Amino acid sequence: MKILVINGPNLARLDIRDSSIYGDLNYAELKNLIETAATTYGFEADVRQSDDEATIIGWLHAAADAKTPVIINPAAFTHYSYAIRDAAELLKAPLIEVHLSNPMAREEFRHTSVISGVANGTIGGFGPNSYVLAIIAMKNLLSGAN
Ligand code: DQA
Repeated sequence: MKILVINGPNLARLDIRDSSIYGDLNYAELKNLIETAATTYGFEADVRQSDDEATIIGWLHAAADAKTPVIINPAAFTHYSYAIRDAAELLKAPLIEVHLSNPMAREEFRHTSVISGVANGTIGGFGPNSYVLAIIAMKNLLSGAN
């Protein structure tokens, strides 16, 4: 089964972001880890990144039409993009929100997610492993295990 994994702004620049917050993997390595974990759990992951809100909204619309399950790290859009939230609400299959860091343990502006309310659940704070945990959670959701 296909899953769409969407990464928001600045996540393609993990190579120059603070590794004490976001971990040591660059984006290519993160993408590879996600694809490998997805395969392990029987998914074919389409892993994408964009810095552009409209592009992400277009991907969510297509996923809604195709009933594709979605894992999303909306990055900074998490905290203020009502447009991404409204697009995410259109999804027909499960949506899991992920974060590399734990936004709740960081600056106050990161404590609000406008996406969480339309997601099945949120996983954050485990570095790249957040995505692996999200894939496992997605597997369980789709098999009715949780
Ligand atoms: C992030 C957390 C966000 O607050 C931040 O803007 C990001 C990455 C994370 O994965 O920890 O860009 O979503």
